[in-house]
Amino acid sequence: MNKIIIRKTEALNEWRRNLKSDINFIPTMGNLHDGHQKLISTAKNSNCYTNLLSIFVNPLQFENKEDLESYPKTIDKDIEIAFSNGADAIFIPNTIDIYPKNNKNNCYLKASKELSSALCGLSRAGHFDGVCTVVYRLLKLIQPRNLYLGEKDWQQLLIIRNLLEEKKFNVNIISVPTQRDYDGVPFSSRNKLLSKNEREILKLFSNEISNAKKIFKKDKKIDLKQLTKKLKSKNISIEYLEHLHPYSLKKVQAEDNITILAGAIKCGKTRLIDHVFLMKRNPIIAIDGPAGSGKSTITKLIAKELNLLYLDTGAMYRAISWFFKKEKIDYDKDSELKKILNNISIVFKSNSLYQQDVFINNICVTEAIRSQEISSIVSKISSIKKVREFLVNAQRKIGESGGLVAEGRDIGTTVFPDAELKIFLTASIDERAKRRKSELELRGPEKIDFNQLRELIRKRDFDDSTRKISPLTKANDAIELLTDGYSINEVVEKIINIYNLKIPKEIQFE
Ligand code: PAF
Repeated sequence: MNKIIIRKTEALNEWRRNLKSDINFIPTMGNLHDGHQKLISTAKNSNCYTNLLSIFVNPLQFENKEDLESYPKTIDKDIEIAFSNGADAIFIPNTIDIYPKNNKNNCYLKASKELSSALCGLSRAGHFDGVCTVVYRLLKLIQPRNLYLGEKDWQQLLIIRNLLEEKKFNVNIISVPTQRDYDGVPFSSRNKLLSKNEREILKLFSNEISNAKKIFKKDKKIDLKQLTKKLKSKNISIEYLEHLHPYSLKKVQAEDNITILAGAIKCGKTRLIDHVFLMKRNPIIAIDGPAGSGKSTITKLIAKELNLLYLDTGAMYRAISWFFKKEKIDYDKDSELKKILNNISIVFKSNSLYQQDVFINNICVTEAIRSQEISSIVSKISSIKKVREFLVNAQRKIGESGGLVAEGRDIGTTVFPDAELKIFLTASIDERAKRRKSELELRGPEKIDFNQLRELIRKRDFDDSTRKISPLTKANDAIELLTDGYSINEVVEKIINIYNLKIPKEIQFE
């Protein structure tokens, strides 16, 4: 594709009309650095759409003329960087193109009050209104499929996300983690304005907050007063330093697992921001749902894609059922059950096919636990209080430090009620019976009767949802996904998109 520079909105409209592909849009104010390069290369590597970068120093988001005029402008170099990193087109409008004089279509937007009344919003009156106005205007002109934004400006990202949700503007926001220089300082166009000494101060600040993150990992708490004192003792001029909920930007609550430590400092005349996300434990995804809803396949794929541990709790109940059957344990008489359970160990191990094998007391039962014989008793066995308690404890132990996706029937309600993302995956009984039939047919010569399978699933649903202990119910905060008619990949993509809205990219692969 020919690289093109567009300067006028009419030319942009014309180009847009003739374009056959969707657009990845990367809005910038120029002075491109490694942070922008990452946005462009992420866009380039995520699909085959056309990558359009805009360079527009938006006067509405500057507090004063001096700040606007001193903003670094390096247009020739920007063009070179953008094209060489994968931009196909660059839109470089003038102020008059974006805000035509006396145009009744100009509309000036307001940022969310809640989100803009914290952090930078406190001292930069009108800044986020200006950002909302320009981004919305650019999006209306460009109509992209994807919008790429850096997590470096986390508050801006939240405000734009909120605006587009409110306006029901159909675009995927793809966020990209903060990129840091060799000394730990986040890339920012304003870094150019710093003297050597000021850069040293910024470095101290960034290093201190990244150190606070390390301490938090160990201690699970942060002493904001002490940190502020320490920064002040190093002559760092703090505008704010806050520990907040990462999405509401409200003060942290004791139960918050992921939080943000964000600060702004003044280095000479330049104002700079930085943040880190703090986590008590890594994120957990809970996927619950009835038998045959596709949980296993989907959970495995999500684990692979997001590099999370895969916890198949159903396999644990099946392994116990297999063991009880093999050892002819009379599980209705529970006097000995506790002792028996305490001598059981269930372990998952990755096999050479990049899948997981299940071992119970060192016997590999991966295949054996999937037989219809086990399917017909597992619901009963998993409703035994002692079995449940034993396995819920074992599962919580595995999930202690998070970083996993667990599937089952009571993950979101009982095992990990504080999971960051809870999905309740369902499908109609017919759809599930159809899926189970093809799955079993692939596995072996056992003759499968569709109606019998349908009946088995119906009964299993009934047993699971009416049992006294941990019945199959959707957690109040779970998102229900009905998967009839969707391909596996479509469901996986949906879940990952929701995960991306709940977990900053910056901490997804820690
Ligand atoms: O982050 C920026 O560079 C700007 O605020 C943006 C999003 C390009 C709007 O002018």
